Amino acid sequence: MLRWPADGRVLFLHARDGWALRRFPLAGLVCEQGFKPFADALARAGLAVVARAEGRFPLVLALPPRQRDEARALLARALDHLEPGGVLVACQSNLEGARSGEDDLDRLAGLAGNFSKHKCRVYWTRAEALDAALHAQWRALDAPRPILDGRFVSRPGLFAWDRVDAASALLAARLPDDLAGNGADLGAGWGWLAAEVLARCPQVTALDLYEAQARALELARRNLADARVPVGFHWHDVRAG
Ligand SMILES: C[S@@+](CC[C@H](N)C(=O)[O-])C[C@H]1O[C@@H](n2cnc3c(N)ncnc32)[C@H](O)[C@@H]1O
Repeated sequence: MLRWPADGRVLFLHARDGWALRRFPLAGLVCEQGFKPFADALARAGLAVVARAEGRFPLVLALPPRQRDEARALLARALDHLEPGGVLVACQSNLEGARSGEDDLDRLAGLAGNFSKHKCRVYWTRAEALDAALHAQWRALDAPRPILDGRFVSRPGLFAWDRVDAASALLAARLPDDLAGNGADLGAGWGWLAAEVLARCPQVTALDLYEAQARALELARRNLADARVPVGFHWHDVRAG
């Protein structure tokens, strides 16, 4: 139903490694992946992985995330990477919003086809019916923005992106206030807990934030830019040590 481009140039957004890829020549495949465990798996398989893709391609593959604003923004950006006449193919599991994703792409650009298998839906477009106004609107849907009365910056799709998570709040409220020395925050998100530690524990002298999701770490960096102690930011899979 769909062809791999003759010149092999393919962009894969939110890429995951998998056996299905092995049927194709992969020298021209560019994978974009911000979640470190998945990025590491792609790199281990010898595939080209970038944090942020550039350029236009005859075929763009995308695995939209569950959060709808982030997914819509991804579809909008994916269209920006299409060459004229190119095809954007998206796939989602039914449990992660496949039906909504398909409706969204249809609204945005008009569908050229769809298929359903293994409790997933794959749907694609040649952008022949692009709604330019919606395209501009959806591109900005997951942009970073102030939250919690402007004290932090966050964006849709991150863990508890627009609020303080109840469990994190419970943990922060029970922190001993005599924590001292250098600390590590494993799974720092957009930085709320790290900021609380620094506010509540005056004897903490340095903090290292480890976060697997690049787009969360980027905002933690902004949220802790004025920290009173040295803060390190590490894009890292903490299961790797
Ligand atoms: C429950 S959230 C906590 C966020 C933040 N500490 C807070 O209290 O609001 C867990 C975070 O761990 C990150 N994470 C998940 N797996 C990870 C891994 N293997 N290595 C590093 N971070 C990971 C997630 O992206 C998420 O931001």
